[in-house]
Amino acid sequence: MSQQKESNRQVILTSRPHGAPTADNFRLDTQPVPTPDEGQVLLRTVYLSLDPYMRGRMSDAPSYVPPFAVNEVLGGGTVAIVETSRHPDYAAGDWVVSQSGWQDYALSDGSDLFKLQGPVLEHPSWALSLLGMTGFTAYMGLLDIGNPQPGETVVVAAATGAVGSVVGQIAKLKGCRVVGIAGGEEKCRYAQETLGFDHCVDHRRDDLAEQLKQHCPDGIDVYFENVGGKVFNAVLPLMNTKGRIPLCGLIADYNSTNLPQGEDHLPLFQGAILRKRLRVQGFIITQDYGDRFDEFFRQMSQWIAEDRLVLREHIVDGLEQAPEAFIGMLEGKNFGKLVIRVADDQPGEQS
Ligand SMILES: NC(=O)c1ccc[n+]([C@@H]2O[C@H](COP(=O)([O-])OP(=O)(O)OC[C@H]3O[C@@H](n4cnc5c(N)ncnc54)[C@H](OP(=O)(O)O)[C@@H]3O)[C@@H](O)[C@H]2O)c1
Repeated sequence: MSQQKESNRQVILTSRPHGAPTADNFRLDTQPVPTPDEGQVLLRTVYLSLDPYMRGRMSDAPSYVPPFAVNEVLGGGTVAIVETSRHPDYAAGDWVVSQSGWQDYALSDGSDLFKLQGPVLEHPSWALSLLGMTGFTAYMGLLDIGNPQPGETVVVAAATGAVGSVVGQIAKLKGCRVVGIAGGEEKCRYAQETLGFDHCVDHRRDDLAEQLKQHCPDGIDVYFENVGGKVFNAVLPLMNTKGRIPLCGLIADYNSTNLPQGEDHLPLFQGAILRKRLRVQGFIITQDYGDRFDEFFRQMSQWIAEDRLVLREHIVDGLEQAPEAFIGMLEGKNFGKLVIRVADDQPGEQS
């Protein structure tokens, strides 16, 4: 049975946030379900990925991609079911990774689709995390830039999140000592007891720097940066000579409207890079590593099949909940990969 609804709900960006986003920046709208032309498919969104990068695209500061447009539906990675196909490569009922954004239905000409086949169909939402963008980010950032060696100490921030949890687990598979940094006791306990990290330090504690020092007695060889701010300040003095810092994200600053007040840490940072010959490299997964997705997908699929990776998803039901869930993610309220379940996950009618 087709589950096609009569209308297409969309979350619209009504204004650009100044500082932390609020509910006023979003509006739930309703439009007719679009009809595919020849060569197009109609997609029904099942899962919508909510990711920190979306905060950057809600602003119009210069970046590597254009910002989201005001009064338009928000963009984003999705897992969708082909509801109706007028495209030779897709049939109704196919599962795909798409860029349908924050809405129930979208059209595609197929150029932005990745068909899901094989074991991933047991957990289609994993195509947004372990087997998708965030897993890919963890894999390439850690292995290509971090280059972790057995016995080395790897520290990862936002340690229980979509990227950080995978970074730490891969580092363990590579024989490293792994110390996570996360917000709160529950997340830290999970990092140690479930993800298998050697330790995890709570960044909300006043003695973060001392705790980190105590649990990294041999210093830090690889710091996977997801956060910035005071977490980075605690890490920097512990970096070893020839240490590597894959600079993946700076979520602590995404809602900032001004440069931080107080002491200027830049000379300290530059001095450390020079004296310790640190390698600090920023990367944008979609821009820098597109040609290595197959390698990543094969290796991750194998580790998953061997039961060597754990995934925690934070699934929120209902497209209308997306703004609140997104706002919460920037405050650390998610525990695991944040995904909105937009619709039932049963396939539609075959055409
Ligand atoms: N470069 C790339 O291509 C690329 C691709 C994907 C993601 N990223 C970046 O990777 C980072 C992690 O993304 P994700 O998708 O895995 O998100 P996530 O970790 O699943 O969720 C965000 C987490 O960040 C932490 N956080 C938020 N504000 C913080 C603050 N002020 N100080 C410290 N921690 C804070 C919170 O965890 P706690 O409660 O533990 O603090 C929150 O749960 C982000 O910076 C993102 O922009 C970059």
